[in-house]
Amino acid sequence: MEPRGYALVTGASYGIGEEFAWQLGERGWSLVLVARSQERLAKLREEVMNRHGQVDVVCAVLDLSRPGAALELFQKTQQANLEINLLVNNAGFGAFGEFSANPLERQRQMIDLNVGALVELSHLYLQPMKERGTGAIVNVASIAGYVPLPYNAVYGATKAFVLSFSHALYQEARPYGIQVLAVNPGKTETRFFETANMDISKDGGQRQTAAQVVKEALSALDRGKTSVITGLGNRMLLRLAHFIPRAWIAAVVAKRARQSRR
Ligand SMILES: NC(=O)c1ccc[n+]([C@@H]2O[C@H](COP(=O)([O-])OP(=O)(O)OC[C@H]3O[C@@H](n4cnc5c(N)ncnc54)[C@H](OP(=O)(O)O)[C@@H]3O)[C@@H](O)[C@H]2O)c1
Repeated sequence: MEPRGYALVTGASYGIGEEFAWQLGERGWSLVLVARSQERLAKLREEVMNRHGQVDVVCAVLDLSRPGAALELFQKTQQANLEINLLVNNAGFGAFGEFSANPLERQRQMIDLNVGALVELSHLYLQPMKERGTGAIVNVASIAGYVPLPYNAVYGATKAFVLSFSHALYQEARPYGIQVLAVNPGKTETRFFETANMDISKDGGQRQTAAQVVKEALSALDRGKTSVITGLGNRMLLRLAHFIPRAWIAAVVAKRARQSRR
């Protein structure tokens, strides 16, 4: 997608979101960077503007899981006349552990961020995109959205929502010239597992860097795809999973999760 106006990236202070900021800046997009970590955003703003002199970078320090935060962000960008032509809904987190033992408040916050803020921002920014007849929404889902995820049950369900929502929205937005893409990474080297309290040190298998994930995501956006599973290993794994009953997959995931808790 050709740069025009601003790309808004949620969860831009770390990991995949930070990498979106770098690669979109490289492509000439001006940016609105959103997260809670003020200092990290300010530093990233300075670095991106230094490297790519032609782009403008604006920071919005916000907890997007808070009720009303998405509307606040929308109003801020409207008042500043920032034309958001690319919305990257990336902010999200997981929480490893038994559903009934994990604090309800944390899981509610996860739904509010991974699903609530994503739906609200999509709704708010879609309208002006429709009026302009151009724009794109990139929703960061996960390969976790394709399978049940015992001991990370709410996280998996939020990503299944994002995946289903994005495929449906793609069809609704297409007649208006607007693209919608679901990005489904597998294990990626970021702070994600530390935040989710997950020990993956004994896990084998492929891990991608955030840079690889974002490169594949932007290439899929260029090609007008509706969904991309990043990483060849992840694509092969999900192709295989397609032939296995969900109940079996859930049982295997549960067994492995119990072993890793010991
Ligand atoms: N890493 C993986 O293996 C993996 C795999 C599949 C999908 N994903 C998805 O990729 C996305 C990015 O995750 P990541 O791996 O890059 O993890 P990360 O390094 O932990 O980054 C998460 C980002 O979300 C922001 N964030 C968290 N809570 C927020 C809140 N309440 N309000 C606003 N921003 C908030 C964080 O910034 P602050 O803390 O500064 O707010 C941070 O910038 C997530 O949606 C995740 O589910 C990750």
